[in-house]
Amino acid sequence: MQREHWATRAGFVLAAVGSAIGLGNIWRFGYLVYKNGGGAFLIPYFVALFIAGISLMILEFALGHRFRASAPQALRAINKKFEWIGWWAVVGGMIITMYYSVVIAWALVYFTKAFTLAWGAETKAYYFGQILQLTDSPWNFGGFAVEVLVATAVVWALNWFIDFRGVRKGIEKANMVLMPLLWILAIILVVRALTLPGAIEGIEWYLKPDFSKLADYNIWLSAFGQIFFTLSLGMGIMIAYASYLPEKSDIANNAFIVALANCAFSFLIGFAIFGTLGYMAYATGSEIGDVVAQSIGLAFVVFPQALNMLPALKVFTAVVFFLALVVAGLSSSISLVEAVVAAVMDRFGIERRKAVNLVVGIGFLGSLLYTTKAGLYWLDIVDHFVNYYGLVLVGLLEVIAVAWFFDLGKIREHINAVSEIKVGSWWNFAVKFAVPAILLVLLGFDIAGN
Ligand code: PHE
Ligand code: NA
Repeated sequence: MQREHWATRAGFVLAAVGSAIGLGNIWRFGYLVYKNGGGAFLIPYFVALFIAGISLMILEFALGHRFRASAPQALRAINKKFEWIGWWAVVGGMIITMYYSVVIAWALVYFTKAFTLAWGAETKAYYFGQILQLTDSPWNFGGFAVEVLVATAVVWALNWFIDFRGVRKGIEKANMVLMPLLWILAIILVVRALTLPGAIEGIEWYLKPDFSKLADYNIWLSAFGQIFFTLSLGMGIMIAYASYLPEKSDIANNAFIVALANCAFSFLIGFAIFGTLGYMAYATGSEIGDVVAQSIGLAFVVFPQALNMLPALKVFTAVVFFLALVVAGLSSSISLVEAVVAAVMDRFGIERRKAVNLVVGIGFLGSLLYTTKAGLYWLDIVDHFVNYYGLVLVGLLEVIAVAWFFDLGKIREHINAVSEIKVGSWWNFAVKFAVPAILLVLLGFDIAGN
């Protein structure tokens, strides 16, 4: 069977950017910036991008393109003993998709509520009580939160519909629409935020670094962890997407474009988030630092509150914000599903439709845990676990397998034969020494910290 191909270079780049830009760019990035001293976080963030992010993106693209295979078979091509690393990546991806789809479902529920600002004044009680219906402990499941369950089924149906149609007609076409739409929505949100009184204080807080925080190793750990998550690395996604590239396709240049577009999006959306929070601090007469809540609460508790206070265009802004979340999330979840589908097709030689049915079926069943009334507890536990022992560990194993047990020079030759930008020996150094060393330290600290 002939391997599917992207119809155009732009189609591939948009799909890879669609995978990278996701919920993580909006709630996770905003939260990390807040927690790690505002603008100071941008320093380790960009350091991590250039040292680990781009090097690994180039490597994953090269693996997929060189071996024309999804993660398990690409790693197997390096050495039979390494196939399991690819499966680990793919299983990690599967586990992430299970809860990631539920977060998209929350955004979808909020999107429907946005037309009437149905969350009311008590946004925290609404989110935890009405929507999640959160119980008092992880073991008290309390049945399903029905609205979340229904929305989760819708999200999986969309995943199914897009991946079922294949690389060109499904994934590529969807991203050709979703990506331009997402950037337009983001720009609307930025403009809206910047025209609010008090926005400038929020932006100042966003960009003004508190350098004293840089001495804390946690900020560095967070930055490297976020770069893996945000660039969709270590899940076999970029390997699978690159495996659908035609023979004569650029690798290095495309990797730079995808990585930079993703981080530019985060940087841009930061203006919308912190501008809006600056307004909120202004409107309530409080300190900017006090209005930024934790993690997921940023999107579903604090933002609805800020939306309530807008002097004009409340409903419009609310609809745009939650639609942006859904669009960003969906283009990422289809890539996670595709990484698994590609691996299953490659390994068992079954056709796409069967693979998609199987993967979506299992994925939806796995999602059910997070649609129970104890869902959020499990999401927090699994998110942390998968981030480190999935993405980061797989990234480490990948670089070790390729750089230490294979000919890295050969891979670089392959990259340079097709790429506009020639990859220099800095890349060998990064992949062979810098990235493994940093990831080892990261994992060591994480284990020690638990
Ligand atoms: N990169 C996407 C984001 O930032 C989603 C994603 C996370 C995809 C982890 C794969 C793995 O939200
Ligand atoms: Na991202």
